[in-house]
Amino acid sequence: MLSKKVAITDEDQEARRLIPTYARRGLSHPICRYEMPDEPMEPDDAYQLIHDELSLDGNPELNLATFVTTWMDSEADRLMTETANKNAIDWDEYPQTVELQDRCVNMLSRLYNAPEHQQSVGTATVGSSEAIHLAGLAMKWRWRKSQEAKGLPADRPNLVMGANVQVCWEKFARYFDVEPRYVPLADDRFVIGVNEAMAMVDENTIGVVGILGSTYTGEYEPVGELNAALDRLCSERGWDVPIHVDAASGGFVAPFLQPDLAWDFRLSRVRSINVSGHKYGLVYPGVGWVIWRDQSDLPQELIFTVDYLGGSHDNFGLNFSRGASQIVAQYYNFIRLGRQGYRDVMQALAETASWLAAEIEALGPFEMLGRGTDLPVVCFRLAGSPPFTVFDLSDTLRQRGWIVPAYAMAPDAEDIAVLRIVVREGLSADMAAELVSDIRAALEHLEAKTATPVSVAAAKPAGAPGGRGGRRARGRPSETNKAKKTRAIC
Ligand SMILES: Cc1ncc(COP(=O)(O)O)c(C=O)c1O
Repeated sequence: MLSKKVAITDEDQEARRLIPTYARRGLSHPICRYEMPDEPMEPDDAYQLIHDELSLDGNPELNLATFVTTWMDSEADRLMTETANKNAIDWDEYPQTVELQDRCVNMLSRLYNAPEHQQSVGTATVGSSEAIHLAGLAMKWRWRKSQEAKGLPADRPNLVMGANVQVCWEKFARYFDVEPRYVPLADDRFVIGVNEAMAMVDENTIGVVGILGSTYTGEYEPVGELNAALDRLCSERGWDVPIHVDAASGGFVAPFLQPDLAWDFRLSRVRSINVSGHKYGLVYPGVGWVIWRDQSDLPQELIFTVDYLGGSHDNFGLNFSRGASQIVAQYYNFIRLGRQGYRDVMQALAETASWLAAEIEALGPFEMLGRGTDLPVVCFRLAGSPPFTVFDLSDTLRQRGWIVPAYAMAPDAEDIAVLRIVVREGLSADMAAELVSDIRAALEHLEAKTATPVSVAAAKPAGAPGGRGGRRARGRPSETNKAKKTRAIC
């Protein structure tokens, strides 16, 4: 978020002040909104003031827009609070934190099937965006060194990816001067097209991106097919183009739900992978990871050896200081859940997602674009031409507290506007049933408002999603919940 300095005028005194509503009765005077106050205040007054103001935010538990974790064990909360004062860059001072990061990188490289005979390397980052910038830089430098070694020009690098990439890829291309080559989507294809991608690859291509899965629909891109097609192209032309897999969300889903799907270091062209620890890695924001298959995939020139903190350490990152607590929390999840624990959680989320998709489809006026079969994400559009839009539906649901985003697809499918529900821990079976009932009520409300019938299927008593555990209590909606299904939303 880029914040702007607000112009302050003498006439507009109101805009200058923050007037506490009730924030503790002792705090009766206004304070400056955009200028640092001259005087201190008591800590509990400051706490209450901020606490009250933040209640204007949406409820994270009902935020179905985000992939990012909104719930953790209380033991993880405790560890994070205990380590909030540690800077992860202070390697010599906090060697055990470094050890935990090392263990996480080891666990991830093995989760992604890095060959044991190769020397995988990796690092924690602030999120997948930083991880992607680092991976992109490594691809660019590797390509440049290879071009220079062959005596070829190295001034026009390009990167091939689907138009559905997350904005961090556009940033990478612009910030680091790489030509982005976007494979357009189509009305019936919302991920990269393999043939279309191959047609864009040339001797200046630093890499091809495969996404696991797409931010727009949750669908996995065909990384195996990209690998095979690139193999053919490179053997014909004598190139060596790597694949980077943006597994921001899928990196903690596919290994547990689709273990036989080869998308990772099992594929020879996959040289680097990023994953967001703060998405399905189940850690609060901000931690991400980037892993290279072998240290030769990460040019040495990008690594800085830093020795002024005591000792000498290798560093590759866009940031220097960063909190240690998310790394500690990631390690907590790894040992607390283990592979079976992650599998159980992902299985429960997938069941909720596929149940939601079936129920939403049964409501009638929707066409499903994502049913939670890859990522536990449900994506749908309005079928036909009803007199309201997905944006109206999103706004109406917001009045009940649900945050279900509506947006247009990427080029060339931007005429299609969709709603997306990201199923995360915290969306219990009961809440999912409530959501379906509120979507039905929202449709009925919009229908009544526009006085145009849209054929909303009659309410039927729905069973809640599957019976498997997860870590939250799950179960069938109670009679009370069923009775609420017809409740008006507005
Ligand atoms: C596919 C994909 N890549 C990258 C990102 C950026 O991740 P982060 O928010 O961890 O920086 C996202 C975020 O949603 C994503 O969905």
